[in-house]
Parts: sequence; C-alpha cells; structure tokens
Amino acid sequence: MNKKFNKILKKKNKSKIICLTAYSKNIAEAIDPYTDIILVGDSLGSTLYNYSTTRKVTLEQMIEHSKSVRLGIKKSLMVVDMPYRTYRNKKIALKNAKKIIKETKCDAVKIEGGSSITKIVEYLIKNKIPLMGHLGILPQSVRGKFKFKGKKIEERKKILKDAELLQKKGVFSIVLECVETTLAKKVTKLLNIPTIGIGSSENCDGQVLVIDDLIGLNQSKVKFVKKYGKVKNNISIAARNFKNEVLSKKYPTKKYSYN
Ligand code: KIV
Repeated sequence: MNKKFNKILKKKNKSKIICLTAYSKNIAEAIDPYTDIILVGDSLGSTLYNYSTTRKVTLEQMIEHSKSVRLGIKKSLMVVDMPYRTYRNKKIALKNAKKIIKETKCDAVKIEGGSSITKIVEYLIKNKIPLMGHLGILPQSVRGKFKFKGKKIEERKKILKDAELLQKKGVFSIVLECVETTLAKKVTKLLNIPTIGIGSSENCDGQVLVIDDLIGLNQSKVKFVKKYGKVKNNISIAARNFKNEVLSKKYPTKKYSYN
C-alpha cells in the first residue's frame, strides 16, 4: 500500500474520511481539494443514463468515464466500480481489474458482496489488486425496491461476518450502504480498516454521497441524501439569462466579438 492508502487508513478513529462520486473531469477537479477518495461509481447508470439498474452499466462506460475523472484528480485516491458480471469468476475479475487499472490509472477497484465472492476477493488481492469492499445494499444484486439492511438478526450476523471476512482477505476499506445505525457502529468498531457509509448513519469512519444528489443536479428524494447545492436550478437560470440576452440583442456585444 502506498502513501495515499496509508493516509486514509490512518484516519480510522481520528478523523472522518470524505468520499464522493464523480463521473467526469470537471466535477472531479471541483471536488478533489475536499475529498480523500473519489469513486467512479456504477451509480452513473441511473444518474447519467437513467437506467433502472446498475446491471446495465458496461466495462467500457466505466473506463471512459474514469479516464475523464482521472484528468481532474490531483490528490484524492481514485476508486472505480467493477460493473455487474465483470467479476463473475476469479480469472475474469483479474483480467478486468487489470484492464480498468491500466486504462484509467485508478488506485483501486470496488466490488460488491461478502462470502459469495470470497474466492474472487482472495485472487484479486493475491494478484496485488487494491480492493474496496461493499456490503449492505448491493445495487448490482437488488431486484425491486431498496430496503435498508440490519433489521433481521440473520441479516445483521451476515453483514458482521462478511465484513470480518473481507478485512481478513485484505480489502483496504468497506462501503456500507444503507446499514442500520447500530449495526454500522458494530461493524465499524469490529474492523481495523475504515468503513465508508452511505445511508449508514454517523457511525462510519467516512461518508460517501453521489455527487449529483449532493449538488442538486437531480431530483433524488432518498432519505439519507442531503442537498448542499442547487446546481440544476442555477443551470436553468443561466440558460434563461442567455436566452433573454440573445433575444434582446444584449449578447453578444462588441466585447464578445472579433473586431
Ligand atoms: O455506485 C456508487 O456510486 C456507489 C456508492 C453509492 C457507494 O457504489
């Protein structure tokens, strides 16, 4: 693990880890001064392409968006989601992880699941692929509505077991998606590696949000999302002002013309 990873690992029990998603250079550039980790999430499927599921996201889409994001990052650790079926067995997983890292120059990849992907996790780590885990809601596996995890005792036991297992196998961090508050606390206490929560309360070592939700570029009404901006509104205002100035011939004036 290099310096960038160590810096993040050292934050456990000291200071919160800041993570956001990005899907393009300009957004990555804007958030990089404030993030520890930038995740090119396969949430881009729903966020940018309006897919009903992340299962439709392709390896090529992830690579092209990640190349763009790479151009905007100076200091944050860059993690890229491996899309659905690109890690369906250990050989395919290694081939695709290497391709993602080689073509996008990211620092690590993320895959979803616990005990069901043990062999894949083991194989990737053995082959020196820096890996982030993902437990709780696993969007690539969900059919229908998303429900938070940790209500049922069996579910709680499984998440705790899977978290320990992923840590033992060598992932450097685990995303906990929509995990019940007291369970998130237990998992975070149990592990030496950081947990990054999304909809999993303040009890995680870090927090991640989808950037379009955070800046108000989409209409997300999910309980855990807090909007910190009104970017969609601002874009509409700029477009309206442009329209009005063109119609009233206030733009372009001499200042904006070649004379
Ligand atoms: O795809 C994604 O953006 C993610 C985050 C929700 C953690 O996996």
